[in-house]
Amino acid sequence: MENFTFYSPTKFVFGKGTESEAGSLVKAFGGSKVLIHYGGGSVVRSGLLDRVKKSLDEAGVSYTELGGVKPNPRSGLVYEGIEICRQNDIDFILAVGGGSAIDSSKAIAAGTLYDGDFWDFYCGKPIERALPVGTVLTIAAAGSEGSGDSVITKEEGMYKRGAGSEAIRPRFSILNPELTTTLPPYQTACGITDIMAHLYERYLTNSKDVEVTDRLIEALLITMKNEGPKVIADPLDYQARANIMWAGTMAHTNSCGVGRSQDWNSHNIEHELSALYDCAHGAGLAVTMPVVFKYVMDHDKKRFEQAAQRVWGVETAEEGIEAFRSFLTSIGMPSTLGELGGSREDIPTLVKNLCYGDGRDGTISGFVTLNEDDCTRIYQMML
Ligand code: NZQ
Ligand code: ZN
Repeated sequence: MENFTFYSPTKFVFGKGTESEAGSLVKAFGGSKVLIHYGGGSVVRSGLLDRVKKSLDEAGVSYTELGGVKPNPRSGLVYEGIEICRQNDIDFILAVGGGSAIDSSKAIAAGTLYDGDFWDFYCGKPIERALPVGTVLTIAAAGSEGSGDSVITKEEGMYKRGAGSEAIRPRFSILNPELTTTLPPYQTACGITDIMAHLYERYLTNSKDVEVTDRLIEALLITMKNEGPKVIADPLDYQARANIMWAGTMAHTNSCGVGRSQDWNSHNIEHELSALYDCAHGAGLAVTMPVVFKYVMDHDKKRFEQAAQRVWGVETAEEGIEAFRSFLTSIGMPSTLGELGGSREDIPTLVKNLCYGDGRDGTISGFVTLNEDDCTRIYQMML
């Protein structure tokens, strides 16, 4: 195990009806003028937004609203949000929604206190300060409710890039599993896939003797394997929703990624897919992961065998990857580039953006370092 520092100070408030605590939590964390930031309308239709506003009213906290965050959130709305925050002296941002609303909130939070273009942060400039952010989560998926990361797509060029900093880690996150019962089954499945990806990206390590984190990841993967099909079969299954929601948060606070090198190549390869095709991140990962795993398997076959045996109850590395792939298909996820709207002609663009975007030097590194030829072959294997 390698040396590490773990500091993950988000306050999580979990369970039925907890959105009613939004106002008092904002106040406790110093907010008095709030920007409520949300997506395309699911929180309006479900009545959640009204309940959150009532809670803010009761706590005597004033607010301004900005809806319209799209999945794969765009830079345009971030600029708009920054302007609103400056004009209204906003001192707290409350994201109500999924990873997209949360990531857009984090970008606005950092951009408001910065004189330059917020996009600098997504090109590698460290975020030193940001307005405080809180969240009311409506989908178990990205883990942004407990992470210091934000992923935004720049409209000019459709570059999807990430930024990370302690300054944008949420101060609190309200996790009410009941809120996820209105999700369409496809989005539920995309969330399940993303959570499992966050676990696998940490599982694929070159660090030795990481038994405790291996076992934590395996426990969470088994939970997803068991609970995932339950919520697909019965979207109202509260206990399964609750287990998945907490697994999703645990998967990405990095509590099971400390002291070990991590992969993230599948995420990097996928981000080009959701940037180009505007597909759901989880759907892109479902196509990407089994292919990448097969491609890099020989680098450390024992690690894949361990997952096969401990998580999937099969013997070989190949059988483990196949079991994962068929699990993803069984919950309704795609398995080919075509299903995401892609084709062979797009591969050179995907590879160029992947290997040279983001200041990269022609390779992406993680569990295995992959060059342009490797990435071309990987995208071809998705056809
Ligand atoms: O926009 P609305 O109308 O709210 O609808 C959303 C959206 O269409 C809908 N939805 C969410 N909760 C719902 C609901 N519909 C009905 N009932 C509910 N309770 O679901 C759709 C997807 O929402 P989104 O926020 O995009 O989902 P997700 O949480 O999967 O976030 C995806 C984004 O997070 C990024 C991804 O790249 C992607 O852009 N990620 C962020 C990470 C981070 N910050 O740490 C890490 C992840 O690896 C990921 O890259
Ligand atoms: Zn992800």
